[in-house]
Amino acid sequence: MRILGVSFDYHDAAAALVVDGIPVAAVQEERFTRVKHDRRLPENAARWCLTRAGLAAGDLDAVVFYEKPFRKLSRILAGTLDTFPSSAALFRRAAGAWIDERLWVGPRLERAFGVPPEKILYSDHHLSHAASAFYASPFSEAAVLAIDGVGEWASAAIGRGRTTAGGRAELTLDAELRYPHSLGLLYAAFTAYLGFEVNEGEYKVMGLAPYGTPRYADAVRSMIRPFEDGSFRLDLDWFEFHRDAQRAFSRRLEDAFGPARAPGGPDPSGDARLRDVAASVQLVCEERVLALAAEAKRRTGSANLCLAGGVALNATANARLLREGPFERVWIQPAAGDAGGALGAALYAAHALGAPRRWEMKRADLGPEHAPSACAEALRAAGLAYEELGDGARLCERAAGLLAAGKVVGWHQGRSEWGPRALGQRSILADPRSKAMRERVNASIKYREGFRPFAPSTTREAAAAHFDLGRGAPSDLYRFMLATAPARRPEALGAVAHVDGSARVQTVDAEESPLYHRLISAFGAATGAPVLLNTSFNLKGEPIVETPGDAVETFLASGMDALVLGPFLIPSRPAGAVPRRSSWAASATPSDGLAW
Ligand SMILES: [Fe+2]
Repeated sequence: MRILGVSFDYHDAAAALVVDGIPVAAVQEERFTRVKHDRRLPENAARWCLTRAGLAAGDLDAVVFYEKPFRKLSRILAGTLDTFPSSAALFRRAAGAWIDERLWVGPRLERAFGVPPEKILYSDHHLSHAASAFYASPFSEAAVLAIDGVGEWASAAIGRGRTTAGGRAELTLDAELRYPHSLGLLYAAFTAYLGFEVNEGEYKVMGLAPYGTPRYADAVRSMIRPFEDGSFRLDLDWFEFHRDAQRAFSRRLEDAFGPARAPGGPDPSGDARLRDVAASVQLVCEERVLALAAEAKRRTGSANLCLAGGVALNATANARLLREGPFERVWIQPAAGDAGGALGAALYAAHALGAPRRWEMKRADLGPEHAPSACAEALRAAGLAYEELGDGARLCERAAGLLAAGKVVGWHQGRSEWGPRALGQRSILADPRSKAMRERVNASIKYREGFRPFAPSTTREAAAAHFDLGRGAPSDLYRFMLATAPARRPEALGAVAHVDGSARVQTVDAEESPLYHRLISAFGAATGAPVLLNTSFNLKGEPIVETPGDAVETFLASGMDALVLGPFLIPSRPAGAVPRRSSWAASATPSDGLAW
């Protein structure tokens, strides 16, 4: 059974291919088009998924869209009518976009892939989120909680997944919170207030929060009317998102907290008021996540929780859920946001159509890989001198030596990661021990805001010595960098320990990621600390690199010192290299084997 899941038209378009219940390929469209958060129908991503599996579009049993467009339109129409006439402009804009394009998902998929209408199916937005978590999890039964901005109508949903001894899978959602009452939209409103881009800057709010104290927490809490069962209603007087596409928060918010920060304004970490607003909304978000989780526990009695939706990418809230929440185990799929809906939709359809469950997600590398010949070609095309070191001990020794000597190294290996995090396939790596390295990588490698922290990767064996991961085996969340943990000696990890001593730690397994594990171990042998600074291989505002050509271009355009591209090492920057900056890259789309 071959099922293609797709998500698009909002942000982070993606495609995922599930064959007999097992995902074989998943990737976001932005990796091909080089347009960050590309929302367009993911033709490149879908074609690559098919090519990877040696299939043509005609071989597919179904193409599944991750949500129900008519139901979503009904919410938009009802919402704008409720707030008419102030929503008139929003209504005009939304009606045009939906009638011209968005409603016609089926015909657009038919045109793009040549599949007949009867093969095009639709999952619910939150069911896609839930399926992306539960069907990838190690659990045979679990509570499922999806929390995001909004899907069709739901902004949060609670349900349950079960797998029988025969592998038959069931997933049901039985309660939902409805728009406009949304934790994701509350957080998004503050993201906009703090001068960051919605659906992009939420990480920055989370990163800014530890610099502040939550002295406005009561004011943020006053925007929410909570109920004992974890549900809540927003006081809409504070917001505009329900009636104005351009503005998420109302004048009242500025009256209470002072003027909003202009996009691109001065560094907010230098402004105590803005830091404290970030700390306050983060704290209240954590409280709401814990309350929703408590209700999921009360309804299901399960020891296990699968969490999904954009809010599940809040690593600080996840850390509190691990430590203070009612569940013994928590699992989150790395593409917890809407891109992950493509995978969830395909998995949901596969199991609904009878595929047994026989897969657990232990690795995130579901994207394209590039042969050594393609790496060599990209290096030759750029005129870069390189050494060929094979794919094991020598490569890791040399790279670890450079890192220990304070060099910043681009690291491009194997299949690219699924989800927003680089996990050692498309990473920029550096020595994590000094604060100066963090400043250097922010300022002259990635060209991004100085207050933003970097994450550490460490080996699974060494993790507990360097980070307080709680009792027992480390949570699966650390595998995909989805929760923070206190560094045991933050002063010894100045580039990756945040101002509050926490770090968004990634634990690396020798079995699942042997090469990356070997590199971290080699760095540990050289320095005594098997920990690396790991940040995504991209520059600010660009998608993570996909092809060797993207990697070479980003290497040259940034201040990185060295590059490892598959088996090849470029140990230093070429003298006089002229940075080439462009959002265009050579097409990575193989077109052979497909019928159109
Ligand atoms: Fe969502």
